[in-house]
Amino acid sequence: MKEQLQNIKEQALKTIGDCVDVKQLDDLRVKYLGKKGELTAILKSMGKLSAEERPVMGQLANDVRQSLESFIAQKQSQLKSALMEQRLKKETLDVTMPGKQQAMGVRHPLNIVLDELKEIFRGMGYTVVDGPEVEETKYVFDMLLTEDGHPARDEQDTFYITDDILLRTQTSSVQIRTMLKNKPPIAIISPGRVYRPDAVDGTHSPIFHQCEGLVIDKNITFGDLKGTLETFAKRLYGDDVKLRFRPHHFPYTEPSAEVDLQCFKCGGKGCPLCKGEGWIEMLGSGIVHPQVLINCDIDPEEYSGFAFGIGLERIAMMRYNIDDMRLLYENDQRFLAQFR
Ligand code: DAH
Repeated sequence: MKEQLQNIKEQALKTIGDCVDVKQLDDLRVKYLGKKGELTAILKSMGKLSAEERPVMGQLANDVRQSLESFIAQKQSQLKSALMEQRLKKETLDVTMPGKQQAMGVRHPLNIVLDELKEIFRGMGYTVVDGPEVEETKYVFDMLLTEDGHPARDEQDTFYITDDILLRTQTSSVQIRTMLKNKPPIAIISPGRVYRPDAVDGTHSPIFHQCEGLVIDKNITFGDLKGTLETFAKRLYGDDVKLRFRPHHFPYTEPSAEVDLQCFKCGGKGCPLCKGEGWIEMLGSGIVHPQVLINCDIDPEEYSGFAFGIGLERIAMMRYNIDDMRLLYENDQRFLAQFR
């Protein structure tokens, strides 16, 4: 048995010494030291030895085992570092190479303008509120004094879902919801999507954005409306802007006005941007009709207010000199990247 052990040791040390890769080394470990390995087989047969021989052989077998184990470990670390060295030689890392550019998204021009608008009105003490896009006709029309038969309710101008539910055609519905819920003083803006069955062209889209504004308090006058809108326009376009209030009609305001901005491109002389007018329409506004207040349980003897509705696309187009509204919806990267 002693010889057998010696043979195994010699043979093992030689084959392990010649071994050139990690996998082969592991196979050898199993061959000699594994559960069914050669050395293990000998250890198992120890039982047949006499009581004197057993400890001697046992000792010897363990010595062989230990020397094989440590030789394998040594060989393994040799092979691993050789492997690593090979890799290091083959692979190169140039830390001076420039990094890979990540394509970063940008804010959409409509969002840029909307954020600015919110900022301006928040600065004047307004709260930003939200309202539903799928809305009841009573909030979009009836309570805003736009009775049955009014052209604005026409099916051709409106996406109806049922007889009394529709996709809102204006954010003015939020005025009603706000006044039903809160009592004055009220100062809110409400931006959001609105829907009208318009064919798509350079200045029309079936979905566009408005921002509604509403102020109700004691002693609110047309002067407050003018001052507010002038402040707003100056913050947005700079101190030199000029506004023009033009009489108009909306069912829910009296008096009503449309507000134009003097064309910033030609300074009012008339150019293709303002279609020769010198002025560009910006929003609708007016003093809230007393009946609208009554509809919302607010006493018109005690309170008054103004309201306005701004088209966001128009603001963005004027701001960035965009001549076709479709650019705002197509999400063409070449267009959007300019707002970086
Ligand atoms: N709702 C109007 C529109 O869609 C805009 C508007 C006009 C809103 C006058 C108002 C207002 O609040 O007082 O064209």
